[in-house]
Amino acid sequence: MERRRWLQAAVLMCLLLLCSGRELKDEPAPVYNSTLAKTLAEYTSAVYTTDLSQLFTWTCEKCNDLTQGFEMIELIIDVQNCLEAYVGFASDMNAIVVAFRGTQENSIQNWIEDLFWKQLDFDYPGMAEAKVHSGFYSAYHNTTLRDGVINGIQKTMEAYGNVPIMVTGHSMGASMASFCALDLIVNYGLKDVTLLTFGQPRIGNAVFASHFKKYLPNAIRVTNEHDIVPHLPPYYHYFPQKTYHHFPREVWVHNVGLDSLVYPIEQICDDSGEDPACSRSVSGNSVQDHLHYLGISMHSESRGSCRIVTDGNMLRYKIGAPDGTIILSKQPGLSVDQQLSAL
Ligand SMILES: *[C@@H]1O[C@H](CO)[C@@H](O)[C@H](O)[C@H]1NC(C)=O
Ligand SMILES: *[C@@H]1O[C@H](CO)[C@@H](O)[C@H](O)[C@H]1NC(C)=O
Repeated sequence: MERRRWLQAAVLMCLLLLCSGRELKDEPAPVYNSTLAKTLAEYTSAVYTTDLSQLFTWTCEKCNDLTQGFEMIELIIDVQNCLEAYVGFASDMNAIVVAFRGTQENSIQNWIEDLFWKQLDFDYPGMAEAKVHSGFYSAYHNTTLRDGVINGIQKTMEAYGNVPIMVTGHSMGASMASFCALDLIVNYGLKDVTLLTFGQPRIGNAVFASHFKKYLPNAIRVTNEHDIVPHLPPYYHYFPQKTYHHFPREVWVHNVGLDSLVYPIEQICDDSGEDPACSRSVSGNSVQDHLHYLGISMHSESRGSCRIVTDGNMLRYKIGAPDGTIILSKQPGLSVDQQLSAL
């Protein structure tokens, strides 16, 4: 019995060493911070809260633990397209957090089925030969979200200085987070931008990925086990010039080990964006693995709908919102009550 346990432990050690071995070779130490990933997973999870008042006051069920004390500044909801983003200040990290919620239209299943057919149909502006999918691009660039996010960042920086910005999102929200992080660097000249996403689909071709890597060399895409979404839209190795291609760097969360010694690891992948030893080494066939990341649920309580709940009081925050948009907004440093009485 003792002997068997010892053997299991030895096998596990070998597996762990094999998996981390690639880091030790010639690549520079990749910037992956597991605690930060967990924290941003909690921020991303919160954006699925249906009650906007609770989300805005940061009193939602998911608004505690590693995200405690977060100050929401701007919450933008594009009701028509079922998209959402928020901007606020995390004093413990001394950073701005920007989180995106992606559309789930009618159901996550339908959304995933559609991913198979997304074309590289749009030239990313200012980057020769870089192609992306117009729908992913415009969900951020062609909706009210972009203005709302920029506005929220500006307000927060006026109050707290040029602090780092952390951009995150899950699923479709991960694609929007990626376009946002790139936008902040390329079009707004911001320097300290961190991108860390969960369960992200491919968003552009290899040329786009290589531009992306230049601007965001430390970007992290966390993938989970057999999550189907990071496998989509498909990668065709026969047509490397024409196919979608992930930007680096993937971190693949999966279980290793045997029997009772199964152990989750966060495997840091190579800098190609398409490491064949990471999630691509398994078939992406799980929707369930898409809905949980690092032990945190990534979907709304009311599945598959874009229902939004808010109490009347909070709607007084609705300011200058164009058709089909709700914006809840406050001045940094004021409590929600102070803000309400100032109106
Ligand atoms: C990792 O992130 C956490 C949370 O932001 C931070 O407190 C910690 O200092 C970071 N660790 C490193 C090594 O950067
Ligand atoms: C953005 O919206 C405008 C106006 O609705 C439209 O003409 C344009 O094609 C859209 N761009 C993308 C990339 O979808």
